[in-house]
Amino acid sequence: MGDTAIRKRVAVITGASSGLGREFARQIDLLQQVDELWVNARDQKALQEVAAQLATPAQLLVADLTDKDDIAKIRAKLEAEQPQVRFLVNAAGFGKFGDWQTISDEAVDSMIDLNCRGLVDMTRACLPYMERGGRIIQVASAAAFAPLPHMNVYAATKAFVLRYTRALRWELHGTGITATALCPTWVKTGFEKVARQSGGGHDVGHLLGAQKPSTVVSRALCANRAHFAVACASPQSFLLRIVGKVVPSCITMAGWDVIRRL
Ligand SMILES: NC(=O)c1ccc[n+]([C@@H]2O[C@H](COP(=O)([O-])OP(=O)(O)OC[C@H]3O[C@@H](n4cnc5c(N)ncnc54)[C@H](OP(=O)(O)O)[C@@H]3O)[C@@H](O)[C@H]2O)c1
Repeated sequence: MGDTAIRKRVAVITGASSGLGREFARQIDLLQQVDELWVNARDQKALQEVAAQLATPAQLLVADLTDKDDIAKIRAKLEAEQPQVRFLVNAAGFGKFGDWQTISDEAVDSMIDLNCRGLVDMTRACLPYMERGGRIIQVASAAAFAPLPHMNVYAATKAFVLRYTRALRWELHGTGITATALCPTWVKTGFEKVARQSGGGHDVGHLLGAQKPSTVVSRALCANRAHFAVACASPQSFLLRIVGKVVPSCITMAGWDVIRRL
């Protein structure tokens, strides 16, 4: 790696065209700790609108993170520009409501590819450009804390993100790079619309107690700054975390089966 003094400091944020990713871009912009924000999503127009609202210069990484060629392009850009990645926020992701028969094979594959493989690929692409003070936030979910019927693949992908982030964080001890898994309950974003576009889209009723993205993101940044491994972002999520550790899965699944019908 070259001289830090001349390397530009960047924040790489995936899923930045909407919801939590867009809010991370807004709040990291306000911190004024980076020279550029690199914002990723597939929708170029939406990214342009996000970039127009930022005070920090932004570069658009228009890329589908389920596509290995697009990941290779991001790797090539990092290689060419040799930035210092100060923040990596992996917020790109989606879920689908429905049981195993009502969610298409394509949606299931894409969920696993984006939520798991895309997140790992982006993390591995950025890590060589991170140094002491570097901050990683992986957007998991409270769905990581227990198996969830009618969201089975989604919850499993988030359990993957939580476990991966915890183990990576351990490996990063001594480097000064902090990794945090963000595990919120429902948040008011574009998530619900995408989740309901499936054969079983109404298997989950209301998104009870949905939080504002601004609250979740400010708490996540705070928890990450404090070197927390997990950011729950609400008392409800913290409670679910405890329940997931002490209550047998058959009981949590029975409870969820009642809650999801409300
Ligand atoms: N909202 C909730 O209730 C909730 C709760 C817990 C955890 N989460 C997690 O929070 C994260 C952010 O979701 P959100 O709630 O902010 O939903 P959102 O508003 O739908 O945002 C999802 C983002 O992911 C991007 N994306 C989707 N497919 C992509 C792909 N193949 N390649 C690159 N980017 C892609 C979308 O942009 P394009 O469509 O332009 O690509 C969008 O920017 C997800 O990981 C989600 O699982 C959400």
